[in-house]
Amino acid sequence: MKKWYAVIGDPISHSLSPFMHESWFDEYDIDAAYLPIHVEPSQLEKSFEAMKTLGISGFNITLPHKQSIVPLLGKLEESAMQMNAVNTVNFDGTHYLGSNTDGDGFVRSILAHSVDKASKVLLIGAGGAARGIACALKRAGFTDVTITNRTFRRAEELAAETGGTAVTLIESEERLAEFGVLIQTTSVGLATGEALPISLERVKAGTLVADIIYNPLETPFLKKAEEKNCITLNGVGMFVYQGAIAFEKWTGIQPNTEKMIQLITEKLGGTYVND
Ligand code: ATR
Repeated sequence: MKKWYAVIGDPISHSLSPFMHESWFDEYDIDAAYLPIHVEPSQLEKSFEAMKTLGISGFNITLPHKQSIVPLLGKLEESAMQMNAVNTVNFDGTHYLGSNTDGDGFVRSILAHSVDKASKVLLIGAGGAARGIACALKRAGFTDVTITNRTFRRAEELAAETGGTAVTLIESEERLAEFGVLIQTTSVGLATGEALPISLERVKAGTLVADIIYNPLETPFLKKAEEKNCITLNGVGMFVYQGAIAFEKWTGIQPNTEKMIQLITEKLGGTYVND
């Protein structure tokens, strides 16, 4: 029987996940469909019941349901427990198993750029996205992670939880040349004309500067990093790898991520150059 998968969210029409997963199903000759489903918060439980009744094999969860789905699931993987948030569900025949592939997706995207796990990493931000990445960096074996955030107390809390070090925004700007990898996780840069979360004046040329935002493809932060001769990485890689990890859980196949990054970049109006 044809299998079916979905992404649920509110809103959902902008999601690129259906394009990505249907392309991979086609490429690997898998008889399955992947649908975007608009689910309002008040309808989450009912919608999940309906999806189960109709035999769904797995699904992704986007805003605003990543946390509210947690109590509805039978089992959680460590990644989802640490985050208390789920973006992927896999039905194993008995349980609907929740995981969170966002942080691991980001880490795979930087590892694809040959980052050394001993690099000094500066994580900018201490919200949900930063938390997922800090936990995934730790799981992957990164040993030197410094966290900075506008609200310093949140940087301290995240550092204490993940074994990192917290510094203020000003200290991070002063010590910027020490870091080999910078990761921008705040929402600064989504709107045009916004200031940068930190000044990049002292960044070293050749530093890998990553932003989790992918729309716009180049945030003001990445533009500045490029002017400073850094290697820049937008959030398309994180998006594609979080999807690739979900796809592996569902099908056992590691899909072609390089080609997908190129396709998604083109869909977002950009030109992909692999450096
Ligand atoms: P998400 O789940 O997307 O990470 P979040 O949990 O609301 O969202 O976290 C947003 C992050 O962006 C936080 O690190 C926040 O800093 P504060 O902890 O000080 O709020 C950061 N952020 C948002 N707007 C910012 C701004 N204008 N300047 C600097 N940091 C900002």
